Amino acid sequence: MTDQASKTKLWGGRFTGATDPVMHRFNESLSYDKRMWAQDIRGSQAYARALIGCGILTEKEAEEIVAGLDRVGNEWREGTFKIEADDEDIHTANERRLKELIGPVAGKLHTGRSRNDQVATDMRMWLLDEIDALEKLLSVLIETMAKRAEVEIDHIFPGYTHLQRAQPIRWAHFLLSHAAYLATDLDRLRALRPRVSVLPLGAGPLAGNPFAGLDREALAKALGFDSVGPNSMHSVSDRDFVIETLMWTSLLGTHLSKLAEDLIIYSSSEFGFVQLSDAYSTGSSIMPQKKNPDSLELLRGKSGRLFGNLAGFMMSVKGIPSTYNKDLQEDKEPLFDSVDTTTACLQIATGVVSTMSINGERMRAALTPDMLATDLADYLVRKGIPFRETHHISGSAVKLSEERGCQLSDLSLEDLRSLNPAFEEDVMRVWDPSESVERRNAIGGTSRRAVLEQVTRLHALVNAGVHSA
Ligand code: ARG
Repeated sequence: MTDQASKTKLWGGRFTGATDPVMHRFNESLSYDKRMWAQDIRGSQAYARALIGCGILTEKEAEEIVAGLDRVGNEWREGTFKIEADDEDIHTANERRLKELIGPVAGKLHTGRSRNDQVATDMRMWLLDEIDALEKLLSVLIETMAKRAEVEIDHIFPGYTHLQRAQPIRWAHFLLSHAAYLATDLDRLRALRPRVSVLPLGAGPLAGNPFAGLDREALAKALGFDSVGPNSMHSVSDRDFVIETLMWTSLLGTHLSKLAEDLIIYSSSEFGFVQLSDAYSTGSSIMPQKKNPDSLELLRGKSGRLFGNLAGFMMSVKGIPSTYNKDLQEDKEPLFDSVDTTTACLQIATGVVSTMSINGERMRAALTPDMLATDLADYLVRKGIPFRETHHISGSAVKLSEERGCQLSDLSLEDLRSLNPAFEEDVMRVWDPSESVERRNAIGGTSRRAVLEQVTRLHALVNAGVHSA
């Protein structure tokens, strides 16, 4: 940095030496925090107006600053903002430009304020907008799954445990099992919002704002915050809102990775229950027959990146001393990346789920009578025999069919009666998978009614959001 340049640094007063250019690059955050330019402008405009209340600015001066900031904002919007070599972050860049545009009165704006309370304010404002956008995207995905479940409610296919065929379920029930995870994600996102919506501005560098008449409640209202930070030291250092968001994206990422994995398996030739649309698949550069589920593999893979952002930033904040330390600048890149990644993941997941097709025949063909062995045991339970006994009897039936090399449902009434006399003619209804799913009619089950009830609940959940689509 030249001597002249050292004078232009906003904190340059006591510094005479030059900054190592590598240090400048190491220290700067403008290259990525410039995406908060609009929040920085809005925050400064509100702060300028608040300074009227403490007699620091006249109405006229505040209006000059507000209008000047509008011009700075327009430059960002139009892509004409010229970044100078010494600009360190979005806060110093905007203030430097304001001074160039309106002169020395710009120098009054930062009275009582610090970049410490300013950066936390900008980030919270930025994140609140993103949370609203994420809430909409997540709501659309949940709605897409709920609608699909409703339309495809008649399809029955195997439900798995340990990836082994277990019991017949409705395809809709499977879809809604994933939607149920996403519903809790929606709940969590809504619960997180008020904790993000806490105003740091007015905390100063750490000890609070010294100018009488600064109305932080009014400032919060003007900027759309729900509440005011209760402790200035906490306000400038608290990044729990970032961590909680990273946790949220990590958990959502985990849920999407599980959905992706199921659909990858179900789209393989071995299963063939679903087929991805061309829009979300890719071909192989060498094997012409292949249709790869890259969209789903990426969804599955991104979960690692999301958790990595959380783990990395948690390490950065661990054990730092009170209030602001530059370690905290490490909050932005993981936050931006995780929000961007999650935004993309939600859009892709919605695209895949809304455009894939299902193969009802393959689903039906995968249902085998042995999956109804529990239903056979339950049949005898209804005749008054304890389940531990009926489980054993049904097991003997499975063994008998294996010995005979036939399906469980091929055993005759006599065969079954040889195992227990309580079997009667109506036992043959056990072999109907539709009856099996319909019997599971308690709340949360796979019967038609129980599934449609889940659909209704999901619609209600989505519609309950103030910020939802
Ligand atoms: N660029 C900084 C950040 O992102 C702004 C706060 C700087 N504060 C300071 N005291 N150096 O965290």
